[in-house]
Amino acid sequence: MDLFVFTSTLSPTLLYTSLCLVIFTILFLFFTTKSSSKNSTPPPKLPPGKTGWPIIGETLDLLLIGRKGHPENFLHDRMQRHCPDIFRTSLFGDSKMTFFCGPTAHKFLFTNENKLVGAWWPKSFNKIFLSEGTSALNSLATSSASVQVEESKRVRNLISGFLKRDAIQKYIPVMDAVAKHHIENEWAPKGDNVVVIDMAKKFTFELACQLLLNVTDSKQVAKFDDRFRNVIAGMMSVPIDFPGTSFNRAIKDANLIRKELLTLIKERKMAVQQKNKDSIIIRDLLSHLLVTPDEDGKLMNDVEIADKIVGQLIAGYDTASTTITFILKYLAENPHFYDEVFKANVTCWSVHSTHKNPAFFPNPEKFDPTRFEGDGPLPFTFVPFGGGPRMCPGKEYARLVILVFMHNLVTRFKWSKLIPNDKIIFKPVPFPEGGLPICLHPHKN
Ligand code: HEM
Repeated sequence: MDLFVFTSTLSPTLLYTSLCLVIFTILFLFFTTKSSSKNSTPPPKLPPGKTGWPIIGETLDLLLIGRKGHPENFLHDRMQRHCPDIFRTSLFGDSKMTFFCGPTAHKFLFTNENKLVGAWWPKSFNKIFLSEGTSALNSLATSSASVQVEESKRVRNLISGFLKRDAIQKYIPVMDAVAKHHIENEWAPKGDNVVVIDMAKKFTFELACQLLLNVTDSKQVAKFDDRFRNVIAGMMSVPIDFPGTSFNRAIKDANLIRKELLTLIKERKMAVQQKNKDSIIIRDLLSHLLVTPDEDGKLMNDVEIADKIVGQLIAGYDTASTTITFILKYLAENPHFYDEVFKANVTCWSVHSTHKNPAFFPNPEKFDPTRFEGDGPLPFTFVPFGGGPRMCPGKEYARLVILVFMHNLVTRFKWSKLIPNDKIIFKPVPFPEGGLPICLHPHKN
């Protein structure tokens, strides 16, 4: 029996977090078991629900509802219509999906990863993310669940070596320098009209290119940026691979990105080989993966490295920048919190990630970071980075990037919104429709 599950609570914020999985790596968590039937009438043990149109299933519904600004309604409608805890649907070319909803589902999934459930991607994502003709990856895609689990653990351990808290703290000076440079050269000159979403994306992507690839050339960064935008747009489009479609463009651009990365990897490899092993200083994830063997002493091959780097860049593409955008929005709307942040000289990532289910977070629409004080939210109700063995490997990186950036911005400027009631739209991550234009007010001293 194939059963495909996805977890979410009732809240839009959490839905956003979960939707991030689809986009950036990244980012839906899908769990599978086997399904048996293609009949329209489900066998008795399948959850209630509809699989919609052939191939596209209910994808259009999800995208349209997201564009109207309420992607959570895709869940709410079906939870009401079919069942509040579990329902079946079909998205992004996969007809056997089941959504699990609420904290109990979170607990179940996080604690049963690799036991009762395993992570899995929609077929359409594989077309974008797996290199063509790579026997290792193609065989992995069709290999047994236990091989996939082991492989995923191996890759995760290698990547976490670079992204874990202790390791990533070494890069705070780089983050700080890039943030200062960015604010000075991009934000300050446009002071009376800074479109936050664009600037935040530019900053987080430039920093990711530097810390993950050691690429600092602005032209190369801009070229990567254009291609990544297309890849992300294609990931969330109807998966029709035909010239001119977003999906087709995403496949082409993902291939171009990998090709460029392979060239970069070859150059870097040669540079590494010319050096004495002990004199190599690791400054980026790519170099880390080139020289760090797994537990069996095996190094990743070039294609694997390129694929993994693409995954990290996609996973981190919109997530941190959207978070920065919303922190700025909420701080502009709630100046008393700005003052506290300024006085404390520190900001906290979690203030942004409010959960909107009143059953767990009273008055969920209100921006109230104090809700995270004291004992904080109930277990499994606040899971912005997921949980269990697949918890976001970029969470320490994201937290630090956001903290360092906010520290630098808050210590130089206050700001006010230029569009008072900018609508929030979801594409599929949430962002203010006008991009959050703000006016910066430098501190007097
Ligand atoms: C505010 C920023 C971010 C949020 C809210 C976020 C959230 C998440 C969530 C909810 C997951 C799924 C976890 C699970 O399945 O249990 C995830 C997965 C992932 N994230 Fe993040 N993330 C953020 C930033 C980043 C960044 C900056 C990177 C890369 C540097 C990154 C890399 C990844 C990767 C590679 C995965 C897939 C993990 C796997 O499947 O094993 N994330 N993220």
